Amino acid sequence: MSTRDLLRGLPVLAHEMPPFDPADTPDAPVPLFASWLAGAIDAGVDEPHAMTVSTVDVDGWPDARVLILKDLDAAGWHFATTSTSAKGRQLAANPRLALSFHWREQGRQVRVRGTARPADPDVSRRDFLARPEGSRIATLAGRQSAVLPDRTELDRELAAVRARLAADPDLVAEGHTVYTVAPETVEFWQADRERRHVRLRYRRAATGWERELLWP
Ligand SMILES: Cc1cc2nc3c(=O)[nH]c(=O)nc-3n(C[C@H](O)[C@H](O)[C@H](O)COP(=O)(O)O)c2cc1C
Repeated sequence: MSTRDLLRGLPVLAHEMPPFDPADTPDAPVPLFASWLAGAIDAGVDEPHAMTVSTVDVDGWPDARVLILKDLDAAGWHFATTSTSAKGRQLAANPRLALSFHWREQGRQVRVRGTARPADPDVSRRDFLARPEGSRIATLAGRQSAVLPDRTELDRELAAVRARLAADPDLVAEGHTVYTVAPETVEFWQADRERRHVRLRYRRAATGWERELLWP
């Protein structure tokens, strides 16, 4: 079978999906996101806190990668990474970014557009110290996004960091940074098997949030 036929034979949005009534939604997007996230967790969605983070580099090339959502509050969506990584450098030059979540079991997608700001260094430090040891070792060892000429270099560095961390358990990776994404628009997309998909977009306005429906 050709790849094309194989792909065209795969079902999409064909399973049972939860209802979504856009008339019955809160004034602001964060509470709705929190309730969709809780729904995804309850439904057993794998890694429901994984999101695609899209940035733009100084030449205007878009870039995207998956990161973990670390927190959500009135200030927005929080993630953590290394400030000297490719994405960290891109955000330093242009803090505009997009986040996208896809909860396929529920036919749901959320798209956030906004700006990312580094959190207070103390917040980043606490976040680092709360991470599992393996993640701390990987970040302490890593020059994330730099070219690695040889994987034995990585193994050597990991072993060296393990020894340093055993001697000083409170070591913190310098570049580890929590970023807070303040949203400008947040779109909630609910699939419908009859293709009457629902799109509800929150748009930041002078007086709060405006809500509007979009053609699917
Ligand atoms: C499920 C998943 C979760 C990830 N979580 C993170 C994360 O929280 N922070 C991070 O820096 N990289 C995370 N990564 C790795 C990134 O996708 C990416 O490879 C790395 O951050 C380097 O990106 P950059 O070169 O664009 O800066 C994750 C990857 C996957 C697949």
